[in-house]
Amino acid sequence: MTSTTDQRPLRTAIFPGSFDPITNGHVDIIRRALRLFDGVVVAVLQNAAKQPHFSAEERMAILGEVFAGEPGIQVDTFDGLLVDYVRRKQAVAIVRGLRAISDFEYEMQMAHMNRHLSPTVETVFLMPDAAHAFLSSRLVKEVFSLGGDVAALVPPAVHRRLQQAREATGGGPRVVR
Ligand code: PNS
Repeated sequence: MTSTTDQRPLRTAIFPGSFDPITNGHVDIIRRALRLFDGVVVAVLQNAAKQPHFSAEERMAILGEVFAGEPGIQVDTFDGLLVDYVRRKQAVAIVRGLRAISDFEYEMQMAHMNRHLSPTVETVFLMPDAAHAFLSSRLVKEVFSLGGDVAALVPPAVHRRLQQAREATGGGPRVVR
């Protein structure tokens, strides 16, 4: 595929993750990636070993809501090896966020493994705004389950669903997994 103006191939990046749930830190990385690539596919890992708080369908619905009306951002799910998915989508890069040194070891291992499996797929690391450096899906769930305010940390679509889930369980704390 080529762009209509300069005939260069369109460059798509894959932003893979659990997104359980998506946070404002993820949104920040996606918007930064869109400045570098023609399109970004937000790819939800479907069958992770860990038991998610939100089902893959719920996470897809949330992402669809968050990025509605943004043609450069596509929402999808994948299963199996990430590099196989990247190949199927004809993407040129995997985008991952790096918040702190503590992320680096895990991310470096994954990037090298993915390079071993598919040498032409690059992993691009982007730093979120410093305001999001402390943010993780796990902490959002923990803080919310203990009654803390997470409204400023996640998109409204996530906050609403967290509240709905709390109401459905009678307002009691929901177990964080
Ligand atoms: O948001 P997460 O949970 O840190 O994302 C991890 C993810 C989805 C990027 C990673 O688990 C993954 O790529 N899984 C797909 C399986 C795979 O390809 N594994 C080998 C790559 S090291």
